[in-house]
Amino acid sequence: MALPIAVLVSGSGSNLQALIDRVESGALEARIALVLSNKPDSYGLKRARSHGIPALCIPHTEYADRLEFDRAMIRAIREAGAETVVLAGFMRMLSAEFLKAFAGRVLNIHPALLPSFPGVRGQRDAADYGVTLAGCTVHFVDELMDHGEVVIQAAVPAYPDDDGDSLAERILALEHRILPQAVQWLAQGRIQVKGRKVHVTPTGIQRAVPPANALVNPPLEQGF
Ligand code: GRF
Repeated sequence: MALPIAVLVSGSGSNLQALIDRVESGALEARIALVLSNKPDSYGLKRARSHGIPALCIPHTEYADRLEFDRAMIRAIREAGAETVVLAGFMRMLSAEFLKAFAGRVLNIHPALLPSFPGVRGQRDAADYGVTLAGCTVHFVDELMDHGEVVIQAAVPAYPDDDGDSLAERILALEHRILPQAVQWLAQGRIQVKGRKVHVTPTGIQRAVPPANALVNPPLEQGF
């Protein structure tokens, strides 16, 4: 049965679109039960509605504090019937109460090779630092910023003439591959966390053709 998930967005929602596309192609065995944004003008809400997915804005500015805002989100996610939460460009930290409500079932996509360059300017920080490899990470969420256990990472080259924007574009294409793949592993019940290490149970599923000029580990599987 398809795993009911809630996807939280704050912006354009291209990672949400990647999830929608994989659900619609049949590769991702999940059902997007709710898209939630803290920003009324998030294009992610429009994307959801145009695919018939329930979409809700809960503006954080309308709540007295983080806890009240998080409680409103917990209620909405539970009402939608989701127990797994995917942060796809969601720009708010989550409280202990939220993380307890969905313990071990909150994933985030971060546009850098963690633990390097956490925070909201990951791509620009990497470009400014002059790294020659950059990338993205899907990880479980804990109370610290961009810190939980790593599920999958993708590395791409970074060049001396890159700026934050050019690097972000190269990284984003890989975000759209690794996020749906990580959600699929969770949906299949193939993820085990032991300490900081994440184990993905192997199956006979064929590997995808690896993306050109990128290194992804664990490797992407067919459909992703
Ligand atoms: C992505 O780079 C994501 O990793 C970061 O914010 C961006 C959101 O892009 N946290 P989108 O809204 O999915 O298009």
